[in-house]
Amino acid sequence: MKIIIEKNYEEMSRTAAMLFAAEIMEHETTTLGLATGSTPIGFYRELVKLYRQGKLDFSGVSTFNLDEYVGLSPEHEQSYHYFMKEQLFEHVNIRPENIHVPEGTLDLKQDAGAIYEEQIRSAGKIRIQLLGLGENGHIGFNEPADEFTKTTGKILLTNSTIEANKRFFECREDVPKEAVSMGIGTIMRAEKIVLLVNGKKKAKILKEVTEGAVTARVPGSILQFHPNVIVIADEEAGEYLTGV
Ligand code: GLP
Repeated sequence: MKIIIEKNYEEMSRTAAMLFAAEIMEHETTTLGLATGSTPIGFYRELVKLYRQGKLDFSGVSTFNLDEYVGLSPEHEQSYHYFMKEQLFEHVNIRPENIHVPEGTLDLKQDAGAIYEEQIRSAGKIRIQLLGLGENGHIGFNEPADEFTKTTGKILLTNSTIEANKRFFECREDVPKEAVSMGIGTIMRAEKIVLLVNGKKKAKILKEVTEGAVTARVPGSILQFHPNVIVIADEEAGEYLTGV
């Protein structure tokens, strides 16, 4: 794993955006893996800025988001569909048909996970995947478990994730209990992965993820086995890392 520690959130966001911008500039068409949460908001701001400066063209870009809450419609303000529209999609020239976010509202007869896996397969490969890190070590919505998830599917959210995400909802009861998420296997098939982590409250888990045992109890630790991972953290999150 390559680890870059930046002074603050703004620098971290800028460095990550530069990596994605380079990917977009170098290839006429490319496929990006995207993430939600509070961590990548600055990253999207930087990408939009580069687009407005005329430096980036999204017309050949396809995107696949990591996850979505089960039961929230794309119009719901806390859905990840809505988040992506607000943070990136409505500000750049991406083609709507090139945008992919797992469906959280398909009826039970349809397998949202299998549909998503097929869409990723037919797009080829995710060239660069953005990840945030949950306070419990989750990536996407892959919660600590006995085994790593292989493909996109439904996940029961843990209490700690519901607690961590309730700040976005009116009350704890409003937080969905399930999500559809790319599996760990899906994420590991991306060519390159960028893990973004900021803030004091992620410092301990970031150390476990990058230096601890590789275990499904800390899902992000699997990234130690990926050949092309760049961790970009701010100084607070990187506090306990050695050998940077
Ligand atoms: C959420 C998302 C993850 C995200 C993580 C961290 O639950 N499913 O994809 O990386 O939790 O969120 P935040 O960046 O707000 O700390």
